Amino acid sequence: MVPAPLPLDDQSWLLVLTGAGVSAESGVPTFRGIDGLWRNFPVEQVASPEGFDADPAQVWEFYSERRARAQDVLPNPGHAALAAVEVRLGERFLLVTQNVDGLHRRAGSSRLVELHGNLFTSRCSKCARPPFPDTTVYPAGSVPSCDVCGARLRPHIVWFGEMLDERSLATIQAFLERAQGSPLFFLAAGTSGAVYPAAGLVDVARRGGAKSWLVNAEPADNAHHFDTVVRGKSGELLPLLLGV
Ligand SMILES: NC(=O)c1ccc[n+]([C@@H]2O[C@H](COP(=O)([O-])OP(=O)(O)OC[C@H]3O[C@@H](n4cnc5c(N)ncnc54)[C@H](O)[C@@H]3O)[C@@H](O)[C@H]2O)c1
Ligand SMILES: [Zn+2]
Repeated sequence: MVPAPLPLDDQSWLLVLTGAGVSAESGVPTFRGIDGLWRNFPVEQVASPEGFDADPAQVWEFYSERRARAQDVLPNPGHAALAAVEVRLGERFLLVTQNVDGLHRRAGSSRLVELHGNLFTSRCSKCARPPFPDTTVYPAGSVPSCDVCGARLRPHIVWFGEMLDERSLATIQAFLERAQGSPLFFLAAGTSGAVYPAAGLVDVARRGGAKSWLVNAEPADNAHHFDTVVRGKSGELLPLLLGV
């Protein structure tokens, strides 16, 4: 069955949350897709501050591999549909992503909050030097160091157990405040609804009066929080739902 598009008009505001599933059709595996394991290690072990303290070279190997993979793939029609609806809605649109692969930006999205950081940004684990672009795929076994202070660099990623950047949450809050009094829509795609606080965004949006849609390949953990659930692939469904 072809789903009806969201009833967006020139007064509507749209907040979107995407997760790893949106990049699956580009060839970027979801954590679920790899059973939560990387070389037999639980992903939480290589994507956590404790994992980095214990074995920084292993963590850099994991992220270098992901950098190489993400550089090798292309945005898919799901990413493209979100970039197109941004052009249509302008400041009435905000895209919040849990993905770190950079594919939304490559597809043309710019009103974008990268909730969990970016694979192609690094920062110093010690000094106040600001995060900087870094596409380097480091050789296995190596750990890059800071040009300023010599301490270890780390990926600019929000790891398991770490706090989100307050500026991300403030941007979402400000968007919802500006949307007050206008028709508001919330659309989540390709996310299992298991990782908080992102999984709670649907509730925040609904308290702000939003009508909510979920597009996901499998039933998500928080599916019952949505008004409309559409099961299937985001690369096929997002262009239909967004009418672009
Ligand atoms: N591409 C990336 O940047 C990437 C990849 C893996 C994990 N992560 C990180 O892992 C965490 C995992 O949470 P999550 O909820 O984003 O991912 P997840 O792996 O927990 O869940 C992905 C969801 O997407 C669905 N899915 C798979 N293919 C799909 C498709 N083609 N169309 C629609 N849905 C599809 C699955 O059914 C699943 O429910 C996030 O914090 C994220 O930062 C990011
Ligand atoms: Zn430093």
